[in-house]
Amino acid sequence: MNKIFIANFKMNKTNDEVLEYINEFNKLIPKNLSDEICICLPFTALCNGKFLDERVVLGAQNMHEQEFGAFTGEISADMLKNLNVGLVILGHSERRNYFNESNEKINKKIKTALRHGLKVVLCVGETKFQRNSKKTNQVLKSQIEEALVGIYENELSSVIIAYEPVWAIGTGEVAKNGDISTAVKVIRDVISNLYSENASKNQKIIYGGSLTSETSKNILKNDDICGALIGGASLNPNEFIKIIS
Ligand code: PGA
Repeated sequence: MNKIFIANFKMNKTNDEVLEYINEFNKLIPKNLSDEICICLPFTALCNGKFLDERVVLGAQNMHEQEFGAFTGEISADMLKNLNVGLVILGHSERRNYFNESNEKINKKIKTALRHGLKVVLCVGETKFQRNSKKTNQVLKSQIEEALVGIYENELSSVIIAYEPVWAIGTGEVAKNGDISTAVKVIRDVISNLYSENASKNQKIIYGGSLTSETSKNILKNDDICGALIGGASLNPNEFIKIIS
């Protein structure tokens, strides 16, 4: 089965460093690539997405829900589209935690992104505290239900759900396959209740959290997920390529 690999550079790499990365990465991409690759660069480097191998989708890490206007420091969907961005990460736990993004705000962003023809990676996941208090299912349910208010079933083909347990992000602690499968089942049940069996079956779900070329081997064998969202390990082109291959 073809997989989706999404790199999230977060607030790393200057424009020059991204150019260096792209030169290196393009040389390493397998000729017979069948998987989907997307690299989510910092805003300041998106203009260099045009140098990426044409099989790689250019991604962004956030955007504003409004079309344009007096929102100092923000980036609109049009600005992203104009730079050939094809996908945007929304609802990342770092946005939720450090920038107070609510499910309601994420919902508005998703609607705007879809209206502009951008694919969306909707990140969901529980904190350690929520996990220890056995709230994981409830958290996933409300994050998905609230983020998808007013989104139509036929739009779900443009939405990838990333299960990213907060306790696994950047900590070196990778979720176990059993935990991932349980979370995926919860996510599919929510989609089934909101939409249909068919929507649930077709929903693309990926995993993210401390993946490396070592830890990803086992995780990617799990047929319940169709790919990975990779932060730290994607910053090294060799390491990212090793995960893909
Ligand atoms: P990580 O980040 O791979 O560095 O844990 C993943 C993410 O935040 O998407």
